[in-house]
Amino acid sequence: MTKIEMKNPIVEMDGDEMTRVIWQLVKDKLICPFVNLKTEYYDLSLINREATKDKVTSDAANATLKHHVAVKCATITPNAQRVEEYNLSEMWKSPNGTIRAILDGTVFRAPVLVKGVTPLVPTWTSPIIIARHAYGDVYKNVERRVEQGDKAYLVVEGKNPSKDLIFDFADTAGVVQGQHNLDKSIYSFARSCFNFALSEKKDLWFSTKDTISKKYDHRFKDIFQEVYDAEYKEKFEKAGIEYFYTLIDDAVARVMRSNGGMIWAIKNYDGDVMSDMVATAFGSLAMMTSVLVSPDGNYEYEAAHGTVTRHYYRYLRGEKTSTNPVATIFAWTGAFKKRGELDLTPELVAFAEKLEKAVIDTIESGYMTKDLAALFDKSKKTHALNTEEFFDAIASRL
Ligand SMILES: NC(=O)c1ccc[n+]([C@@H]2O[C@H](COP(=O)([O-])OP(=O)(O)OC[C@H]3O[C@@H](n4cnc5c(N)ncnc54)[C@H](O)[C@@H]3O)[C@@H](O)[C@H]2O)c1
Repeated sequence: MTKIEMKNPIVEMDGDEMTRVIWQLVKDKLICPFVNLKTEYYDLSLINREATKDKVTSDAANATLKHHVAVKCATITPNAQRVEEYNLSEMWKSPNGTIRAILDGTVFRAPVLVKGVTPLVPTWTSPIIIARHAYGDVYKNVERRVEQGDKAYLVVEGKNPSKDLIFDFADTAGVVQGQHNLDKSIYSFARSCFNFALSEKKDLWFSTKDTISKKYDHRFKDIFQEVYDAEYKEKFEKAGIEYFYTLIDDAVARVMRSNGGMIWAIKNYDGDVMSDMVATAFGSLAMMTSVLVSPDGNYEYEAAHGTVTRHYYRYLRGEKTSTNPVATIFAWTGAFKKRGELDLTPELVAFAEKLEKAVIDTIESGYMTKDLAALFDKSKKTHALNTEEFFDAIASRL
């Protein structure tokens, strides 16, 4: 069989622990037998981040600006315990944070659905993709405790100074908080969402609490509307998709009653909370994919989960694990589909679709990893496989 050729490379970012083991299996068993794989390889393992003083992370992100498509393995974000474990000279920053800052992107999270794992909301027959704004608000707040008798003001200094009373704490003590966001960041968020909706051909919903937050949240609403009218309205109409704004509480109610299938863009805190709710309702973290989309059209695909540390220690002891590779496989297929679309190589897109179908058919016919077997329709016969067996089952179907 002749292998499928790639015109341009995908930026490949290797990672850590159990997901690094899975990464190699995806390439060896599912990709390289069929595709003449062309990647620009960056090793983002913690060991190599230490060796390169984390330069490898920014190099990989900059390569993504050049090649436009990347796929990333899960990586360790160091904490004090990891600094000791890996004898690090510094507590290197989260690679995802570094990459996001360079690509200026928005993260979209989407579940992989299979028949047999019923979402906890039974009407959700299509995936709900959450687009979370990843800058500012409560995550970059300034807050303090206020004693009884004190007054709190919102003070702006500079060319346009102002001073607004927040609250007079005359009768009781309390708390106060300041938040900010940036027009530039909100414009990028809006463009990333509109681009992604076009790329996925799905409706885009956006929601904030603008009736209560008449300046702050309203700014988000206005920027989205301005960008939509000026740059995307025609493209959306041509693609037969819709942009629609509604209040966050109305959106929550509508999402619960919907069949899914939309992209739901939300502010930072709403995204934090809602993405965990949506992920749980759809089943398992191991079935959740994630893509970082920059406003000027760069795409970085990954699994939403971490490096599955507990399984890795078992693997190091020579024990068999049952680690679910679905989100990692779908990160690769996402990257292949985007590469194929940009390079006009439909055979690469078709390969990615066949690989996705092989994964889903394998699971739906009862062969899966342990985490899925625990969630699967109890009336069906299931086989809980170890990691390698599951790869072999997919490979033989493929
Ligand atoms: N995007 C990323 O690169 C990313 C994201 C989250 C965490 N991390 C890193 O991963 C490491 C482990 O973090 P964690 O334990 O909080 O998160 P984790 O996602 O690795 O694991 C969380 C839980 O989900 C289960 N799980 C996750 N993925 C699974 C899979 N594919 N198959 C079976 N079970 C799975 C794990 O067993 C564990 O119980 C940390 O060092 C953290 O910094 C990286």
